[in-house]
Amino acid sequence: MNKILIVYYSQSGVVERMAFAIKEGVEKTNGFEVLLRKAEEASLEDLKAASGIAVGTPDYFDYMAGTVKDFFDRTFYPLQSKIRGSLTANLPCVLFTSGGTGGEPALASLKKISMAFRFKVIGSVTSGARFDEEILEKCILLGEKLAEEVRKSKGNT
Ligand SMILES: Cc1cc2nc3c(=O)[nH]c(=O)nc-3n(C[C@H](O)[C@H](O)[C@H](O)COP(=O)(O)O)c2cc1C
Repeated sequence: MNKILIVYYSQSGVVERMAFAIKEGVEKTNGFEVLLRKAEEASLEDLKAASGIAVGTPDYFDYMAGTVKDFFDRTFYPLQSKIRGSLTANLPCVLFTSGGTGGEPALASLKKISMAFRFKVIGSVTSGARFDEEILEKCILLGEKLAEEVRKSKGNT
């Protein structure tokens, strides 16, 4: 069973609804288990077990939320192997953000940190501070796309 880790933070619920929609999209494909984790609860073990990852955050002061940054801070060093390099290199990844002005700065911060982890970022969705049906659809499709990429990366086309 392939595991997909969805890590997110949400205070007023928009990013959380996006996370649920991505989960729904992933689960449209058979053979996937979703580990849905609030960032403060997400662990190194969750990340090590994952064949793909989705990361979501509200835009806070043009950056990701502190708990999401903390998740990255806690897991970065233990994922560096002297022999194999970054253990998350090429891990299929999608990103999702929400913000009063559209969530783009937070997305940029997630993209930058994804480079340090060497994730393979294959898509993203940004939302305003009010959730709508169109965003819901985009998130479901993003989840489907992530599952498809993981399937391809495992050679199960
Ligand atoms: C502390 C704080 C800082 C924020 N800073 C920004 C910001 O810099 N840019 C922006 O567009 N929205 C900003 N917002 C608005 C949130 O990003 C927005 O309400 C978002 O939709 C919240 O997501 P959530 O419902 O998942 O908590 C801020 C909100 C808070 C609480």
